[in-house]
Amino acid sequence: MLTPNLTADPATWTGSSLVSVKQLTPEGLHRLLVLALDMRTIYKYKSSGEFDRSHVTASQSYKTCATGKILSNVFYEASTRTSCSFQAAILRLGGTVINVNATSSSAKKGETLSDTIRCLECYADVTVLRHPETGSVPMVAATSLKPVLNAGDGTNEHPTQALLDIFTMVDCVANFNNVPPSQWSVNVLDGKTIAMVGDLKNGRTVHSLSRLLSTCGAKNVTLKYVSPEVLRMPGYVMEDVGGGGGVVEQIEETDLNSVVSGGCDVIYVTRIQKERFASEDEYNEVNGCYIIGNDTMALDKSGKCVLLHPLPRVGEIKEEVDTDERAKYFEQMENGMYVRMALLASVLGVVPK
Ligand code: NCD
Repeated sequence: MLTPNLTADPATWTGSSLVSVKQLTPEGLHRLLVLALDMRTIYKYKSSGEFDRSHVTASQSYKTCATGKILSNVFYEASTRTSCSFQAAILRLGGTVINVNATSSSAKKGETLSDTIRCLECYADVTVLRHPETGSVPMVAATSLKPVLNAGDGTNEHPTQALLDIFTMVDCVANFNNVPPSQWSVNVLDGKTIAMVGDLKNGRTVHSLSRLLSTCGAKNVTLKYVSPEVLRMPGYVMEDVGGGGGVVEQIEETDLNSVVSGGCDVIYVTRIQKERFASEDEYNEVNGCYIIGNDTMALDKSGKCVLLHPLPRVGEIKEEVDTDERAKYFEQMENGMYVRMALLASVLGVVPK
């Protein structure tokens, strides 16, 4: 299936796969994010008037636009949020889902990944695929007949997570700075400083997110990469980010407290990816290297620093922080469903007019 540049109007993305954030263009991304706002308006802000999306509040067509469409949800690695939010997304659009448990499918008998997906696309209209091998999802997408959405391929990419991360950053930074709804766009991130914290070597979410921040249309963004030496952001990702144009500086740091007190607009925390380590001993050397508590958040003098995490967290953010109004990771998780609704409607070719 085609993995084209996803240009202007998501309504024209019918049949396209999304395997990498490199496919996204600023115009296409903006339209997709606004479509996700529409989806959220319908389910959440219908009467609050927080966003002027009044054209959609009357429309039932968003809830039924994918009637008769089937999604196959194929996960060869553990997942709660990505898998369930795709499921919820297709159901909320009126479609249905086939959940494939890779441990009880024919993959167990030695079937190749391509054959498994070729089989499933006979039954379904779109495939969501997570697999531990880098490059596996693009490889499958190249030969499949229906759209394939990359739900994470090893340490490589997680493009739909980057979409929901940018959506949430824009939304929260806009709210904290009283940006009017008419100016809701990635440009609210212009000139902002975003810190990425934790396992930058193995975390696919930060690989996709940093690349997308550099090409999304935001200008003069500074990225601070906070990690232990052994978990640095890979050079090839930094090269991509440098070439994207939107990020002016990429700064490697180890001391989280000085980064927070120095001023940043977003802190994006990640889990140390235990399953990617060669040994338990190597993992134990870095486990617990950054733990965010109320004391850390107190270092943010602006009081407006948005705290995000793709989740699951395994100790990186203390529960005491959950009630802090800057802690937005649960909102981020919910936004994932609306963003995936928008993406599914686009690649299925059923975006309501
Ligand atoms: C992430 C993933 O699977 O890459 N989770 C997610 O999709 N929300 C992050 C992680 O597992 O640490």
